[in-house]
Amino acid sequence: MTSAPGRLEGRNAVVTGAGSGIGLRIAQELHAAGATVTLVDINAAAITDVARDLGDRVSARTADVTDEAQVQAAIDAAAGAFGPLHIAVNAAGTGGLAPILDLELVEWRRVADLCLTGVFLSIKHQARRMTEGGSIINIASLNGRQPAEGMAAYCAAKAGVEMLTKVAAMELGPRGIRVNAISPGLIDTPLTSPFTRSPIQDEFLDNIPLGRIGATADVAAAALFLAGDHAAWITGDTLLVDGGAHTKRYPALLGRFAPPPSRPPAAGPRIDEGDAE
Ligand SMILES: NC(=O)c1ccc[n+]([C@@H]2O[C@H](COP(=O)([O-])OP(=O)(O)OC[C@H]3O[C@@H](n4cnc5c(N)ncnc54)[C@H](O)[C@@H]3O)[C@@H](O)[C@H]2O)c1
Repeated sequence: MTSAPGRLEGRNAVVTGAGSGIGLRIAQELHAAGATVTLVDINAAAITDVARDLGDRVSARTADVTDEAQVQAAIDAAAGAFGPLHIAVNAAGTGGLAPILDLELVEWRRVADLCLTGVFLSIKHQARRMTEGGSIINIASLNGRQPAEGMAAYCAAKAGVEMLTKVAAMELGPRGIRVNAISPGLIDTPLTSPFTRSPIQDEFLDNIPLGRIGATADVAAAALFLAGDHAAWITGDTLLVDGGAHTKRYPALLGRFAPPPSRPPAAGPRIDEGDAE
């Protein structure tokens, strides 16, 4: 690898969740810095459009990151087309809003599978293709540290991504592979439009010391730093990119974007009644 710090010519990158929002912006910035980029997303139409816009040094591979065979096929195809991987960004993810009392197992699994298991599968197959060393960047979340009512699966999965990042850094360091995470606060993307296009935006702003909602460019700048040689001695860390929101509190979303918590069952003894006897 011969690029000057900050420039990424000669590097092969893969980005999951590259069809929208944060992953899309990071893919665009990696490409602009000179890297060859493989776009991975479950949304084939989205990454086909992005690939067309970017032009050369790009390929698009449709895959569901929760499916190991699909992840492996996409990563192997990227390496087959462009050679060993040097940079991987894992941005595929989703949210959900329901109190634990109402949270269906299938919904818990949907969020945990995508936000945590998908990152594990991606790291596993990306690292196998980083035969010259590299940099893996996982997109976690402020909510991996700052709890939010109604977001149990998301918060737990993102906290898991931070720890997965540390373990991967320990195991892969001897291979010359750095593994870091970025934890964004509220970023304006299609995923967060219910928040950024509603009055609750003001409550978010009250809890962001720097006084504005984040842009995908804020996250991409951090990703490019971690991808390149300026970060050559950084691994196992998580960079908060949140305008300082971690110093304050997360707005209460329950009841404003989800049904109220379920009532106690109508039939059967209540615990307090039994205790009173
Ligand atoms: N936007 C924010 O405020 C914010 C804050 C913190 C963390 N994040 C995290 O950043 C990441 C990107 O979020 P975003 O706001 O850009 O969302 P987004 O919805 O704009 O983009 C997510 C992308 O992931 C893709 N995707 C969904 N399921 C997939 C699957 N099973 N396999 C492959 N691709 C799949 C979607 O098609 C989409 O292109 C997520 O991990 C999210 O949790 C976002």
